[in-house]
Amino acid sequence: MKKKILVIGSAGYIGSVLIKNLKQKLNLNEYQILGVDTNWYSKNLEINKYNPYLPEIMYNYDCRNFNLKNLNIKPKVIVFLAAVSNDPMGNRFKKATSEINTNSCIRLAKQAKAIGVKKFIFASSCSIYGSSGNASRKENDPIHPLTNYAVSKVKSEEGLEKISDKNFQVISLRFATAAGYSPKLRLDLVFNDFVASASANKFIKILSDGSAWRPLIHVDDMSKAMLWSIKEKQNLNFLPINIGSDLWTFKIINLAKAISKIIKNTSISVVKKNFIDKRSYTVNFELFKKLAPKYQPTASFKKATLLLQMKLKENNLDLFNFRKSKELIRLNTLNDLIEKKYLNKQLFWKKLIK
Ligand SMILES: NC(=O)c1ccc[n+]([C@@H]2O[C@H](COP(=O)([O-])OP(=O)(O)OC[C@H]3O[C@@H](n4cnc5c(N)ncnc54)[C@H](O)[C@@H]3O)[C@@H](O)[C@H]2O)c1
Repeated sequence: MKKKILVIGSAGYIGSVLIKNLKQKLNLNEYQILGVDTNWYSKNLEINKYNPYLPEIMYNYDCRNFNLKNLNIKPKVIVFLAAVSNDPMGNRFKKATSEINTNSCIRLAKQAKAIGVKKFIFASSCSIYGSSGNASRKENDPIHPLTNYAVSKVKSEEGLEKISDKNFQVISLRFATAAGYSPKLRLDLVFNDFVASASANKFIKILSDGSAWRPLIHVDDMSKAMLWSIKEKQNLNFLPINIGSDLWTFKIINLAKAISKIIKNTSISVVKKNFIDKRSYTVNFELFKKLAPKYQPTASFKKATLLLQMKLKENNLDLFNFRKSKELIRLNTLNDLIEKKYLNKQLFWKKLIK
């Protein structure tokens, strides 16, 4: 019998890349990769090709109202990625953010424990550090979540820690901000936004004074960290761990400069010189280096920039006003689905509009 890995939120920006990497890096005679997703984000840049980004079996469920038992499978590992997945969406959809990111996560983790799942891997976020001042935050340092989204991650960690034990291990990967190409592309991430803008418009608009610190991680390197969590043995019942690298930690203004050096003739405009983004943090990645030396981030910043630029061109996307795009900006997609009443048909969605 193959070991089953169930990825909840498998059809998103990170999930799609994770599925591809798991299929490439795990022995598929030994493992079977399954996915669950509501499929909110249907735009898929690789839809017409052989799609390595899809799991072997995909269940189209909302994790708020499904029971693991109904799938009739016993996964060895669950990776929980489903979420209302950034700050602007968390502000607009506060209730759904806590229902999906926290309540469903903990409810499913309890079900998982009851049916004998061994490991539960949770996609947490470095944004829980909020505002770190000059000190790079370690896992045990104080946290300071500044948004509904960040609070949802903190509460999930608290709930998961309580139910973890030696037979049900929880690994909470506190990811840096994701960056880079995925077929389920989102341009509401700072690196992707800057590369899209530089490629299409030859300028980068910074919507703050640019002084905030932000650790980034390439989406392929996130998969590597999840692969480590799945394959290797960790000794703690509950392990929160920062995932990222010093090399990819930038002040926003310096991130823009680094991209403008690669995409030539790009100008930078600091649009809101008086707006200081309070969400500014640097993070200590030593624990990850120590525990997972073979799974460290290796993506090249230059290659990641050029690959994303190439994929944007290749797909002929209309990027002139991409911050308004209904397909490339997650918040706009959800607002659009609500407007079209697509999501209202699903009773549970009504709760989300609040
Ligand atoms: N993108 C980042 O910078 C980043 C950084 C740190 C942590 N994370 C976390 O990683 C995870 C994945 O992020 P992402 O960028 O791929 O986000 P995403 O929004 O692209 O993907 C989330 C996926 O979950 C699905 N989903 C949402 N609600 C669901 C529900 N109720 N039931 C089933 N499926 C549901 C969506 O359809 C989507 O496919 C999230 O938990 C996010 O908070 C992301």
